[in-house]
Amino acid sequence: MHGFSYKNESLFCDDVELSSLVEEHGTPLYVYSAGTILDHYRRLDQALSGVSHEVAYAVKANSNLSVLRLLAHEGAGFDIVSGGELFRVIKAGGDPAHCTFAGVGKTRDEIVYALEQGIYSFNVESEEELRYLNEVAGELGMIAPAAVRVNPNVDAKTHKYISTGKSENKFGIDFDAIAGLYERAAKELPHIRMRGLQMHIGSQLTSVAPFVEAVEKVAPLARQLKERHGIEFWSIGGGIGIVYQDSLESGPSQWWESKAEGERPLTIEQYGREVVPRLKDLGLKILVEPGRFIVGNAGVLVTRCLYEKKGSAKTFRIVDAGMNDLIRPALYEGHHEIVPLQKAADSSLQKVDVVGPICESGDFFCQDRELPHFAPGDCVALMSAGAYGFVMASNYNSRPLPAEVLVEGETATLVRKRQTLDDLIEGEL
Ligand code: LLP
Repeated sequence: MHGFSYKNESLFCDDVELSSLVEEHGTPLYVYSAGTILDHYRRLDQALSGVSHEVAYAVKANSNLSVLRLLAHEGAGFDIVSGGELFRVIKAGGDPAHCTFAGVGKTRDEIVYALEQGIYSFNVESEEELRYLNEVAGELGMIAPAAVRVNPNVDAKTHKYISTGKSENKFGIDFDAIAGLYERAAKELPHIRMRGLQMHIGSQLTSVAPFVEAVEKVAPLARQLKERHGIEFWSIGGGIGIVYQDSLESGPSQWWESKAEGERPLTIEQYGREVVPRLKDLGLKILVEPGRFIVGNAGVLVTRCLYEKKGSAKTFRIVDAGMNDLIRPALYEGHHEIVPLQKAADSSLQKVDVVGPICESGDFFCQDRELPHFAPGDCVALMSAGAYGFVMASNYNSRPLPAEVLVEGETATLVRKRQTLDDLIEGEL
């Protein structure tokens, strides 16, 4: 489900009218639905209920403190990729003992900080990193809990920039090298405690088959590592895809399920049904690291149309958000539905490009798309922008970062102020 729907031709986030938020906070504006975030978290938790598990939310998808606080309160763990993300989790009241630390390039400072905070596991991506972790932990007189990321060499069939589980990707260690590495760690690395095994094959997977393939391939290895080295967890990663198209088609709560069987993308229930039975008898705690599934459809980016420019070949609607605010279309050819905040009486569609103000041809939100009528002065919502939206925003073209609002029922809270011009030069000498 997601919490965005029209009431009397006006777009709402749960019980809050988006146009009222625009009046108060201006545009571009990110708006998130707390109810949607919690619903997704609970549905995933439920889908995995047949096995001992923990949902470690991938902080990189949306790291606003209020989003993290919401999930920490709900009992989520966190998958982090930097010292900065750990800092955010702690500030939001999350427990480091429920944090896993992923990433191919952890620095010494990050390792020390995470050791001191007592994180659950370092998810290690190379033997060199494991040896370095042993060295740093030794210097501090500590034992570092660790898991190695296995690269299962499975094709996730997603965009090449977000596919991670093939041998040619920089992530993880080859499947065949894992058992030997755990043996060496046991003999040679006294400051490491091998606590688990990890994998992640890619992001925005819209079919369950690659997950099943990876789980089936790696399960015997996980079993073997448990028997020989007493590992206690297996993180099967994140990557559960969401629907980016037509997400307002049938209103909240059934839009996903309303798709016909053949064209229906991966549902969370299907994921649970297919994956859980293959994990059940391993006797390991299963971790999942979802980011997009939890927050993707829970957020929109609201932007105002500034101009309509009619060229000889195309009509451009120029809006006040740019690729610096939401880079997914430019970077991954990401699709975001574009819907008006107020439905116009004129229900005709026009073929347009919606573009931002940035000096780059890649600065567009859609090209040659049939869109409902909206005019300069009107606002539109770029849907499904809750994951990898604000977190990837930048100050490119010296544009202040947008504000963020979290809606809980009928209450809307500003959870990040819009940057000011002074913020832009903060720290420059
Ligand atoms: N675990 C690991 C080790 C990851 O690298 C990622 C995402 C996740 C979990 C969470 O994946 P999710 O459940 O969100 O698919 N910026 C791109 C997506 C990059 C994903 C990077 N890693 C986008 O906007 O599509």
